[in-house]
Amino acid sequence: MSDPEELLYPTRAERVEDRRKERQQRKLVDEFFDHATLLAIGRLVNQGQFQSVDYPISTGKEGGVFRASGPAGFRAVKIYRIGNSIFRHVPPYVIEWLRREVGAMGNTARMIYAWTRREHTVLTALRAAEVRVPEPLAYFRNVLVMEFVGVEGLPAPPMQEAMLADPGALYTDLTTQVHRMVVTARLVHGDLSPYNVLIREDRPYLIDVAQAISTEHPQASELLRRDAANFARYFRRLGVDTSPEEFFEAAGGLTLTAGASG
Ligand SMILES: Nc1ncnc2c1ncn2[C@@H]1O[C@H](COP(=O)(O)OP(=O)(O)OP(=O)(O)O)[C@@H](O)[C@H]1O
Ligand SMILES: [Mg+2]
Repeated sequence: MSDPEELLYPTRAERVEDRRKERQQRKLVDEFFDHATLLAIGRLVNQGQFQSVDYPISTGKEGGVFRASGPAGFRAVKIYRIGNSIFRHVPPYVIEWLRREVGAMGNTARMIYAWTRREHTVLTALRAAEVRVPEPLAYFRNVLVMEFVGVEGLPAPPMQEAMLADPGALYTDLTTQVHRMVVTARLVHGDLSPYNVLIREDRPYLIDVAQAISTEHPQASELLRRDAANFARYFRRLGVDTSPEEFFEAAGGLTLTAGASG
């Protein structure tokens, strides 16, 4: 039997651990939830989009994705950090678009807001084309609310970390999704990788779509080829007999700038 005193009073190690957790928590709160972001969240809460932010699913330099809860169930809330770090990683064609969108007077915050709106717009276009993506629900400033892709409150894993029941079937499903994106929505994802595909009940959900571009863009074909090559390698390791060219064709790549090959 353990001493009741020990149950009542935390040990020194536990106190140290508690303080560490608290510091970590405070750091997270400071980094993401600046005043403007808290106001944006408040606005979305008032709209009834969700009631509470539960925990971070994923955080990085550019932003974080959180699980949130509301009367209608779970939500995924993506918060872009107001800062320059996202612009260091986005390709030049996206920066061109952002500059056009916010004008010469646009500051960093405005660019981030435009970026958030863009992710919402692209998700809407993809849903209309019946591409399997999280349903976009709302956005305000740097905060995007979307369908939570998960099972019983647990977020669905990225393909990279998921148990794949049937890689061949997944290949067919994934290329079908990308084909709809290219041929129906006329968009190329631009950063399609096993990290940006979530697996729920053996089905792929495409995410992280803000950098998608029109199939009319001169680089569209090249971008799709790059992603096709990555996925072909990945699926081959899983025993699926494919090639970069085959993935590209299955994804509707031949409808892009006819004849161009690389
Ligand atoms: N709708 C969603 N439902 C559940 N989890 C999600 C959802 N959207 C994103 N996530 C989780 O958050 C992670 C990051 O999302 P996303 O790729 O959109 O953001 P990101 O800023 O590009 O982050 P990263 O740099 O890690 O790719 C995803 O890998 C996934 O685990
Ligand atoms: Mg991502």
